[in-house]
Amino acid sequence: MHPTDARPSPRILFGAGRLAELPDCLATLGSKHALIVTDFGIVAAGHVARATAFLTAAGIRATVFEGSHINPTESDIEACSDFAKSVHPDVLIGFGGGSSMDTAKGCNFLLHNPGRMADYMGYGLAKNAMLPFLAIPTTAGTGSECQSYAIVSRDGTHEKMACGDPKALALIAILDPELTASQPQSVATLTALDALSHALESAVCTKRNAISSSFSTEAFHLIASAIQDVLAGTADLETRGRMLHGAALAGCAIENSMLGAAHATANPLTARFNIPHGLAVTMMLPHVVRLNHSAPEIAAIYRNLARDLDAPLIDWLEKTICLAHFSKPEIPLTAIPELAEAASHQWTGRFNPVPLDHTTITTLYQAALS
Ligand SMILES: [Fe+2]
Repeated sequence: MHPTDARPSPRILFGAGRLAELPDCLATLGSKHALIVTDFGIVAAGHVARATAFLTAAGIRATVFEGSHINPTESDIEACSDFAKSVHPDVLIGFGGGSSMDTAKGCNFLLHNPGRMADYMGYGLAKNAMLPFLAIPTTAGTGSECQSYAIVSRDGTHEKMACGDPKALALIAILDPELTASQPQSVATLTALDALSHALESAVCTKRNAISSSFSTEAFHLIASAIQDVLAGTADLETRGRMLHGAALAGCAIENSMLGAAHATANPLTARFNIPHGLAVTMMLPHVVRLNHSAPEIAAIYRNLARDLDAPLIDWLEKTICLAHFSKPEIPLTAIPELAEAASHQWTGRFNPVPLDHTTITTLYQAALS
């Protein structure tokens, strides 16, 4: 167990209907003009109109940027920051799934700092101030609301870059499970499995510590108690709340530790074959858990996590993934060398508890893609 230097989480407002407290949150920040960064789907669901109405009634101006995209690129971030520079907000709100929150976070880097997002790959490279940032997730998945990293794809290659800074962490996160009711079932499925992978990867990565393990353990129990209903499309408000709560705690776990081989091997599948992140991670996760289980101290962590389940972790995991009824994407086995080469450069792979070499990565892809 590593010595712990914990990063604080945002102030978290959790509970049904708490979007209504958005004006009070902004008042505590002294805001008069918020820029809401979101996407068309969230606007179409009516969430943005509700938030804007709350703000207008409280005398706070709201401007909306609805151009965030899945897997935002450097150019997407620049489009958002160019817009923000033209309207001069005093607070940024990331409202939507991980992509909207990442777009808002990335925009915050570029508002008062020079260059492109690639210049901020790593941690703590932004010298100038950022605006106060508030996160409102509408999916229960990425945990981006509790992380100081913006995940941005490099233009051209679509390589995922993690650009972090303590100033990029949300000051406040509103977790309102009423907002997750509007997500399509496919989004609920993919984001739930991504959150599950966050809990499992952060629980065993080499940067795990007393604080991150507390977050990842509680995140796993919350997610495990909800995910089968979420995948079946039968989750009620209370269950969706547990999923949202668990996904946020998994985000706190990542913020205080890291991820591992499932994300390292999933990212090239997304970059090369456009496989959605949640699906790519889910394709790799059982094979990574099996690999990591070979280390006795990791097997003990998995046994502890699974103590309330009706089966050993790997069996429960495979049964749960089956509930998603994925059809396996067609990826030629001839792509494995290229994928393995890309995965070997992924930052998260360095923190997997079983070291990843080229042979190990190749074996993971062969197992997942055959
Ligand atoms: Fe993820």
